[in-house]
Amino acid sequence: MLSKILTPNAALLKFQGSANLTVEQVLKRRSEFLTTHGLNVISVRAAPGAVAIAIARPNRRILHLPEVWKHWNPNCLHGNHDLLIAVKEEDSAPLFLSPKSNAPHTLIAGSTGSGKSVLMQNIILSIACTNTSEQAKIVLIDPKLGVDYFSFEGLPHLQGGIIDDQQNSILTLNELVGEMNRRYSVLKENKVSNIFDLNKKPNPTERLPFLWIIHDEFAEWMMTPQYADAVSDIVGRLGVKARAAGISLVFAAQRPDANVMPMQLRANLGNRLVLRVDSEGTSEISLGEKGAERLLGKGHLAAKLEGEMGVIHAQVPLVDPMFIATLVAACKEEIK
Ligand SMILES: Nc1ncnc2c1ncn2[C@@H]1O[C@H](COP(=O)(O)OP(=O)(O)O)[C@@H](O)[C@H]1O
Ligand SMILES: [Mg+2]
Repeated sequence: MLSKILTPNAALLKFQGSANLTVEQVLKRRSEFLTTHGLNVISVRAAPGAVAIAIARPNRRILHLPEVWKHWNPNCLHGNHDLLIAVKEEDSAPLFLSPKSNAPHTLIAGSTGSGKSVLMQNIILSIACTNTSEQAKIVLIDPKLGVDYFSFEGLPHLQGGIIDDQQNSILTLNELVGEMNRRYSVLKENKVSNIFDLNKKPNPTERLPFLWIIHDEFAEWMMTPQYADAVSDIVGRLGVKARAAGISLVFAAQRPDANVMPMQLRANLGNRLVLRVDSEGTSEISLGEKGAERLLGKGHLAAKLEGEMGVIHAQVPLVDPMFIATLVAACKEEIK
């Protein structure tokens, strides 16, 4: 054994690789480890000179948001776009989602109860606590009538409240395309290539807030052809051009299969945050490879981010509703 680390979820063991110890051999004995030894092997990966094995702990330790944020000191002078969303399994380092260094748009996938909404709550809090409501705006769309987001009501970044009907959603998304094009002319006028530079300028003609479009359970509405067409069209038109304009989409679905999610749409959502899914097939569709079906659920995450190597395993912190209420109240104070 070369190294062993205990994380809140798993024991990460590294064994020296040899002809007698390969990834394939460990995988072949996966069910034997479970049935004979009671060991649930989450993942087996090849590393230089080693085989890295993750084994689930009998009892997981819940990770809470305050302990994760304790070491976070973002520079918020011009707003912040690097969102702290989880803690990496490998080295306990924070995992960030950034529309600046990663792809501009993100797909979140995971079966019911895997922790999609909790991850979105993390994203919303990360934005709200590191940006003033002038620096970032959030459009929250939730077909489930906002039941997971009650505590965010009154958050100054949430412009039009929570959108819970299709017509309103299509209208709002449509306006984004116009807004993006308008933003490009503002950039041109100020001779900068993106809003990050624009907002750093001492005297721009206008400062532009970063726009986050967060759409929970969007597959529910994609069953309606009119909605599917409108959303696919809008996302296609936004594409990667949205990054420089400071517009980022975060869409969550249980199973992003072809029937609820056209290929083109999936291709536009470049960052993948995949929680536990119900089959290897769904893992392949959402993550691009197998493995997410073996995650432990409840915020256990496999992330594939544009600009980062391979799949990163991580744990999303749990957010206490009381804590959300406290933070939302603090954000309201800020604008008084
Ligand atoms: N990161 C997490 N840490 C601990 N428990 C979690 C986490 N994420 C989710 N859970 C648990 O799972 C439940 C369902 O999570 P939720 O985000 O609503 O799932 P989904 O939106 O995918 O259906 C939560 O109420 C909570 O009890
Ligand atoms: Mg949910």
